[in-house]
This record gives sequence, structure tokens and C-alpha cells, in this order.
Amino acid sequence: MKKKILITGSSRGIGLSIAKKLSEAGHQVVITGRNPEKLTEVSQSIKASGFIAGDLTENDFPNRFYQSAMEILENIDVLINNAGQYCWSNIENTPAEDVNRLLKLNLQIPYELCKLVVPGMKAGNWGRIINIGSISGAVGEANASLYSTTKAGLIGLSKSLALELAEYGITVNVVNPGWVKTGLSEDAFSQEGLNENEQLEMIPQKRWVEPDEIAELVRYLISDSAQGITGQSLNLCCGLSLG
Ligand SMILES: NC(=O)c1ccc[n+]([C@@H]2O[C@H](COP(=O)([O-])OP(=O)(O)OC[C@H]3O[C@@H](n4cnc5c(N)ncnc54)[C@H](OP(=O)(O)O)[C@@H]3O)[C@@H](O)[C@H]2O)c1
Repeated sequence: MKKKILITGSSRGIGLSIAKKLSEAGHQVVITGRNPEKLTEVSQSIKASGFIAGDLTENDFPNRFYQSAMEILENIDVLINNAGQYCWSNIENTPAEDVNRLLKLNLQIPYELCKLVVPGMKAGNWGRIINIGSISGAVGEANASLYSTTKAGLIGLSKSLALELAEYGITVNVVNPGWVKTGLSEDAFSQEGLNENEQLEMIPQKRWVEPDEIAELVRYLISDSAQGITGQSLNLCCGLSLG
């Protein structure tokens, strides 16, 4: 059965891989990001149903964002909260503006979007919510406590909503990738003290997670076959965490 899917942060990186895979599988996909030119190009290349451009942290943007998605899709079967930013800093040097921005983008916006899509999913007695967390949220990461805080919050959100929505045919899960080579990790590795080779050495499989591996897991989680998987915090990290 083809689904109507909203994916935040799908102009590039992991979100784009997910959007491409789901669009190729015949689903109706709406992609999002901040750059309209980039979204126009990506939307055409992956045959998305449409795109929404804007900064998710702008005041009241989630409501406008949801309305725009509904105008394109009419209803939302699947929400994938993927947009997110990283912050590499010890706690005493983390600027207040970073704290506000990451808490909002990585945690508050996913919460608000869940709140907006849940009534429609309940009415249809079917839904899938997938939050893209991070292995940093599952096990912690020194000098990334802000980022880890937001991603750990997504685990609490996913588990709680899974329990709350189980009787409505809605599943909620969080996927926690280890390092993936994207714009986010390239920026992170360009910072002093976060050495790419050292990070690679710490990964038991000695490789980065491929964006397509995450897309493939998401493709399975939105299928009817995965109805029984809910409230799970799934680590896809090449062995970084075995917990
Ligand atoms: N890469 C990794 O190693 C890694 C590991 C674990 C978890 N993750 C998580 O995976 C998710 C995707 O990461 P990625 O590596 O694919 O990052 P990325 O390459 O930097 O892509 C991030 C996406 O989010 C969008 N975005 C960022 N800030 C936004 C804002 N304020 N408003 C609207 N859209 C915004 C970007 O769009 P524009 O830039 O076009 O606006 C882009 O589409 C994130 O939640 C990240 O925390 C990544």
C-alpha cells in the first residue's frame, strides 16, 4: 500500500537518502529544508510529490509547515523527524543560542510535529512515526552533551508515544545512527579536537554507516510487516554500541 510521507531535513544527507528510497518504492514523499533552489532540484530528481522550504526553528513554522504538507498530501501516514544539527563543545563553552536552537530543532519541533500528525493517524487507525536520533543519545558522547540531550529526549518521546498510540495502529520508533559521512559529520570533523581518523578507529566495524542503510531500515519500519515493532530505540552504528 502506497503511503503519504513527510520527511524533515530531506534536501541532503540521511534525509535525502530516505526520501529517494521511499519515492522509488512508489510512496508519495514531501521533502523539506531551508533552501528552495536546492529543494526544487532534489524534488525533481527523486520525483517527490512536493517540497516545503523554511527554517523549522522560526516561530510558528511547524503549524505553517504542517498546513503546507497537508495541502500537498491531504493526509500524512508517515512522519519522519530527521532534520537536526550537531554541536561539538564542552558544556561550559556552549553558547546559549546553540542550546536554544538545538533543543528546538532536534527535540521540540519533532514533538510539535508529532502532536500535529497524530489526530489524522488516529482517525485512519494507521500511522508510522520515525525519529532519527543518534548513538550519542543512546549512550552519551563527551563534548556533545547538548546534542546527546536532544537525541536522548527523542528516545523518551518515541517510547512514550508508542505506548500512548499502540491501540490506534500507530507505531513510533527511534533510529540511532553512528557516524555517517554527510555535511553534518564533515562539519563536525573540521572542528578542533574531533579527529576523523580517531573516530573511525573507535568503530568496531572500522567503517561509517551508509545513508542507504538507514533508509533501508526506515523502509522496513514503515511497512505493514513491521507493525509489531514499536517503542524501540534501534542502534545502527557498525557496532559502536551493543546496548
Ligand atoms: N551524519 C551523522 O553522522 C549522524 C549521526 C547520527 C545521527 N544523525 C542525525 O541524522 C539527521 C540527519 O543528519 P545528516 O547527517 O543527514 O545532516 P545534514 O547532511 O546536515 O542534513 C541535515 C538536513 O536538515 C535540514 N536542516 C538543518 N537545519 C534545519 C533547520 N533549522 N530548518 C529546517 N531544516 C533544517 C538540512 O536542510 P538545509 O541545510 O538544506 O536547510 C538538511 O536537509 C540529524 O537529525 C542528525 O542529528 C546524523
